[in-house]
Amino acid sequence: MSTVLHDEIVVDLGDRSYPVFVGSDMVADVELMIPDDVGKIAIVTQQNIKILPKLARPFQIFNIDDGEQAKSLATVAELCSGFARMGMNRKDLVLAIGGGIVSDTAGFAAASFHRGLRYGIIATTLLAQVDAAIGGKTGVNIAEGKNLIGAFWQPSFVLCDLAALGSLPQRELQCGRGEMAKYAFLGAEGLDRMPLHAQVSACVRIKANFVESDEREGDRRALLNYGHTLAHVVEAVGFDDSRVDLKHGEAVAIGLIFAARLAKRLGRIDQARVDYHYRVIESYGLPTKLPIRVDPDRLIELMFKDKKSFGTLTFVLDSDSGVELVRDIEVDPVKEELVEFNS
Ligand SMILES: NC(=O)c1ccc[n+]([C@@H]2O[C@H](COP(=O)([O-])OP(=O)(O)OC[C@H]3O[C@@H](n4cnc5c(N)ncnc54)[C@H](O)[C@@H]3O)[C@@H](O)[C@H]2O)c1
Repeated sequence: MSTVLHDEIVVDLGDRSYPVFVGSDMVADVELMIPDDVGKIAIVTQQNIKILPKLARPFQIFNIDDGEQAKSLATVAELCSGFARMGMNRKDLVLAIGGGIVSDTAGFAAASFHRGLRYGIIATTLLAQVDAAIGGKTGVNIAEGKNLIGAFWQPSFVLCDLAALGSLPQRELQCGRGEMAKYAFLGAEGLDRMPLHAQVSACVRIKANFVESDEREGDRRALLNYGHTLAHVVEAVGFDDSRVDLKHGEAVAIGLIFAARLAKRLGRIDQARVDYHYRVIESYGLPTKLPIRVDPDRLIELMFKDKKSFGTLTFVLDSDSGVELVRDIEVDPVKEELVEFNS
């Protein structure tokens, strides 16, 4: 491979194991990662992503639209029709080049077409590199909610090329930093002081470890949702209130701070640990509080609808022995903390 420096992290899942490469300027070498028996390649990407590797085999490009609305069954149907017209079969490969929207959608199309084609990912956003591209969760949105239809379908390889981040808008980079920050509390101590390449590798290692021990998302993999309980409800508020203009990663950053404060209120961690949360989030230039005051009762009502909730308030919370999934949390301390956090 022509790259000067790259790490190879294997997601070890028996016969579904695959390598994740982290480095720079690796896109040109993607052919080396594609299995020899692959005939044709269907590239799924977006118009504004100007990354196209040189491929020795026949390929066709499918551009999907931008944004969550493109992560839909309609897009999957269009892709699958395109794969059929191209004559794709189980020997062929889908190559996703993009962020989480592309890898989730292309991955689900790959999982569905002919009941499963191989797929590879060139992850081009920081969020996809540290999170979305790793672990085989593919899927799309429906009107009733995000990611409600999908499949666990592991890729054959993932390329996290830091050079691709050069053209990424600043706000998208910032969004990735929010997801990255959560790993600082999931075992990557000192993450914020590492060079970017080492940060991405450390996050991939942690995510790979969670996936290996809990591929189908029981309680352990759910810990990767640290910071997401408040994040999801704040994003939901933002759907009808333009003053809450937060990217997902920014909402996660605020959610991490809230989770740390709630953990302290519940006697699970001390102030020094809360301060560490503030330090990490601030070091990434991410927000630590809500942009406007939001009615705590509204936030709590939405928290009960969280998919981890099962009818009680459920948070991933820090403790002396690390983060844990905590169910059946009383409403009062959550409301008290929301009131203080919001003031
Ligand atoms: N499957 C999982 O495990 C998992 C985990 C976390 C998030 N997700 C999903 O990921 C999605 C969000 O992904 P995202 O944050 O990567 O957003 P995204 O895919 O929408 O990408 C953000 C924007 O950046 C553009 N872009 C991508 N790469 C670029 C590049 N190199 N240069 C210039 N522009 C570029 C895209 O076209 C898009 O406009 C959400 O739908 C979320 O649900 C999935």
